Amino acid sequence: IKYFPEPFRIKSVEPLRMLSREEREARLVAAKYNLFGLKGEDCYIDLLTDSGTGAMSAEQWAGIMRGDEAYAGAASYDKLVGTARDIFGYDYVQPVHQGRAAEKVLFPLLLSSGKVAISNMFFDTTRAHVELAGARCIDCVVEAARRPADRASFKGNMDVARLEQLLREYGPERVGLIVMTITNNSAGGQPVSMRNLREVSALAGRYGIPVCIDAARYAENAYFIQRDETGYQDVPISRIVREMFSHADFFTMSAKKDAIVNMGGLLGVRDGASGLIQGIKANCISYEGFYTYGGLSGRDMEALAIGLREGIDENYLRYRIGQMEYLGGLLDQADIAYQAPAGGHGIFVDAAALLPHIHYTEYPGQVLAIELYREAGIRSCDIGSYMLGNDPDTGEQLQASFEFTRLAIPRRVYTQAHLDVVAEALAEIKHRAHQIRRGYRITWEPPILRHFQSSLEPI
Ligand code: F0G
Repeated sequence: IKYFPEPFRIKSVEPLRMLSREEREARLVAAKYNLFGLKGEDCYIDLLTDSGTGAMSAEQWAGIMRGDEAYAGAASYDKLVGTARDIFGYDYVQPVHQGRAAEKVLFPLLLSSGKVAISNMFFDTTRAHVELAGARCIDCVVEAARRPADRASFKGNMDVARLEQLLREYGPERVGLIVMTITNNSAGGQPVSMRNLREVSALAGRYGIPVCIDAARYAENAYFIQRDETGYQDVPISRIVREMFSHADFFTMSAKKDAIVNMGGLLGVRDGASGLIQGIKANCISYEGFYTYGGLSGRDMEALAIGLREGIDENYLRYRIGQMEYLGGLLDQADIAYQAPAGGHGIFVDAAALLPHIHYTEYPGQVLAIELYREAGIRSCDIGSYMLGNDPDTGEQLQASFEFTRLAIPRRVYTQAHLDVVAEALAEIKHRAHQIRRGYRITWEPPILRHFQSSLEPI
């Protein structure tokens, strides 16, 4: 299996330590089997998320020193907005402190009670902000996404035929927004094709419905388009990005992923004459901070401006996606099923296939995540029914389309040998999977985004 060598060398290191098996067991009990309750230092390899966990470059650290901390009109703000406008081709760019802040600022301007928002798939916080605005979410991903073993390309796509049906059914007055999540995180970091973006945008245009790109992993998405979509092999990533964003009216972005910063986000509006810009500024000033910093310090904006460019570097992206393919290849050898082909920011192990005897109400994705910590101190997370939660109207446990355990790979952080450790641990668990008889029940949960906080116990 090929491993693309790192296009960087290591200048600063953080020691890792591995707790004993008994210590790990005690930590699980203390965390009430919620992996968000563990301390980072108690995790040997932390694959909980690729969000804010990347390693900044020497250039970004230098930018931290240059950051301009003026309250209004900082030079770092101008640099960030100039860079973002150049990359995305949008007229207005609003810095915010992270992705969900952009959602909180934008969504109430477009959604209200009685409306629906349709997406190729909402991620958890995006879903929460649609619901907090009073609206309801409809996921509309292509069927191939529901078959982890089906190695189709662009499994993150919107099902355009079904979208058209939904638009007819609900009518343009009830559909407040279409959200294109690129890459499609919940479906396994699977990419969305340019053709799909083009078709959705044309359809939305016919019904007069705005399209918002949820852009957390836009650069990885662009790389997949260049690699796999006919006609894009010789098009530079920067041009692909421009074209992708030309098919939407807004974007919300968690910059903690592809822009490789520890904290930051952006909200973009394509048309500078949009009547929403005043509302965006007003919401931003109320919730985030003055509109020339939006909850970020000047040094954060400086690092973000630099990270945006580094995140679309083709050598970096080849190495980055190469890590996922390498880990996926190791799992193929061990005959462990995952959302295939490998996605952009992690490997989503098919926990329902590994633990077929565990019912979705006992959370197979969470079971496997707990076992990985037990086995080797590896922290991951459930992307399945445990994360999806309950129906906001009936309170019933929803059944997710998949039961994944997500191994999210932080950017520029772990090496080939770390990935080997992860694959070996999974193979060990597969050997003893039949001994894992039951899952977990929730003993306490908050009403929204429960997976971050709830307590569990083994059944
Ligand atoms: N949209 C997508 C597709 C995301 O994956 C996330 C965060 C957000 C929006 C919200 O961004 O965290 O900066 O407020 N995803 C992280 C994850 C947390 O682990 O996948 P945020």
